[in-house]
Amino acid sequence: MPAHRSATTPTSDWWRQAVIYQIYPRSFADADGDGIGDLPGIRSRLDYLSRLGIDAIWLSPFYPSPLADGGYDITDHRDVDPRLGTLDDFDALVADAHQRGVRIIIDIVPNHTSDRHPWFLEAVAAGPGSPARERYIFRDGSGPDGREPPSDWRSHFGGPAWHRTADGQWYCHLFAREQPDLNWAHPEVRDYFEDTLRFWADRGVDGFRIDVAHSLAKDLSSPLRSQPNLDGMLPLDGSDPLYDRDEVHEIYRSWRRIFDEYDPPRMAVAETWHPTSSRTYLYARADELGQIFDFSLLKADWHPDQFRTVISRSLGEHAGVGGALTWVVSSHDVPRHATRYALPVGTDLDAWLRSDGTHFPLDEATAQRRARAATVMMLALPGSAYLYQGEELGLLEVADLPVDALQDPVYERTGHRLKGRDGCRVPLPWTVDGSSFGFGNNGAWLPQPDWFATYAASSQDGHPGSSLELYRRAITLRRKLADTDGFCWVDSGDAQVLRFARAEDWQCIVNFSAHTVPIPGRLILTSDPAGIPDRTGQSHTLRPETAAWFTPMN
Ligand code: NOJ
Repeated sequence: MPAHRSATTPTSDWWRQAVIYQIYPRSFADADGDGIGDLPGIRSRLDYLSRLGIDAIWLSPFYPSPLADGGYDITDHRDVDPRLGTLDDFDALVADAHQRGVRIIIDIVPNHTSDRHPWFLEAVAAGPGSPARERYIFRDGSGPDGREPPSDWRSHFGGPAWHRTADGQWYCHLFAREQPDLNWAHPEVRDYFEDTLRFWADRGVDGFRIDVAHSLAKDLSSPLRSQPNLDGMLPLDGSDPLYDRDEVHEIYRSWRRIFDEYDPPRMAVAETWHPTSSRTYLYARADELGQIFDFSLLKADWHPDQFRTVISRSLGEHAGVGGALTWVVSSHDVPRHATRYALPVGTDLDAWLRSDGTHFPLDEATAQRRARAATVMMLALPGSAYLYQGEELGLLEVADLPVDALQDPVYERTGHRLKGRDGCRVPLPWTVDGSSFGFGNNGAWLPQPDWFATYAASSQDGHPGSSLELYRRAITLRRKLADTDGFCWVDSGDAQVLRFARAEDWQCIVNFSAHTVPIPGRLILTSDPAGIPDRTGQSHTLRPETAAWFTPMN
């Protein structure tokens, strides 16, 4: 049986059983009417966030950025982009959030800088062989006159991971060419980021999300080793030249010493897109980052076997390292899960997006039903859940953004093969009308479709069957129900029905089948908008593609 509930989770461990809400600042709320979301906009919505019941906000980058990669190309890691506010705005946001009991996690992007970062400008100006170039990865090209890239490394955004400068040398960029990779063997790079962590921790941030955490340590020995297919080719044993090298863990052990200088210690969560979760969980060791994003649930289709397999695997693999479990189904990098779940199992999402969503017309009711059920399931799992802004509204992917509106470099850099990630970054609808559905008072940087009005927060607020109210209720209840990692599968007697127990008085059941099944106990919560419990709370059945929490009958 699962472990019993323990006393309140100690403050320093708050992130182990937390609900964390990701904000993509440019798309959340625009206070100054320039069409771009900003820090005062977030601050103005803190009551909404605190009513949602979340424990913390994770802010995607808000730093000065030329926006070659949506803010993940940074020119100053210790400032706020003037379009998004000031450091004073940041301090006010932290203070107001803390006052409401909401913690703040910020993004740290240590693999690369912007090509407008002063270090990179200095490196380009200083020329080949200069000490300034040592902070990055500059190399002479191969082939006649060095005309070919130094190695076969490919960029995630398409094309070679090398760009040639005017003086003939090449520099490495695993993402956009405006994001030169840093050389983590250089002591100044290490010092810069350690100082950056302290800078923000001193300002009161509670934790850090580490971007592409598995890429910092690279094998740069000559000749450069082959890695033509980035993640796909990882040998899964720490010997890849670019990713998940064993040496990278030493960096995080030194960061942990910094986090632990604070009271309470600062938390951290690693973003590591890795084909397995077994090596990924190594980053979550207690003397390293403590937590990783486990993307296995996010990669699963709406299917009971897939859900069961990834949940079992993650539970098993995290147990070996003692790190904290996490679950996530949506983010600023992938099509929204309500949309994904309504597509047939195995759909090529890139092809579907390229067709503007016309290849398979989406059934909105299916999308909502499945997304609600998955949420009720995810919020019942032990560990932390990371939500992505707008999912609480049931938002769908905006699949038919006109190509001339696209901002994500992925579209151009892949020669229009991939449409990119803008469809999940469209500014949020807060109200049913206004120039940008209440996002701001002067339009939005990405076009919002008319159907956003149906999903507006204002139209869901206070409506018991709405997605927003489901999230509010589930998050509030979950806090009361269990705060340990207790979990065990319970045989439902039906392969289409998943059932698990978290505590003696708390179980979750998810019905993937096309028939109604009984709820074997007293209903606590259901994803079914029509399934409000009766007075006894007992006589309930679970309709197809719904989920529920219940107290089992003995
Ligand atoms: C991961 C981030 O989530 C993504 O948005 C970004 O493009 C890359 N890292 C590069 O920083």
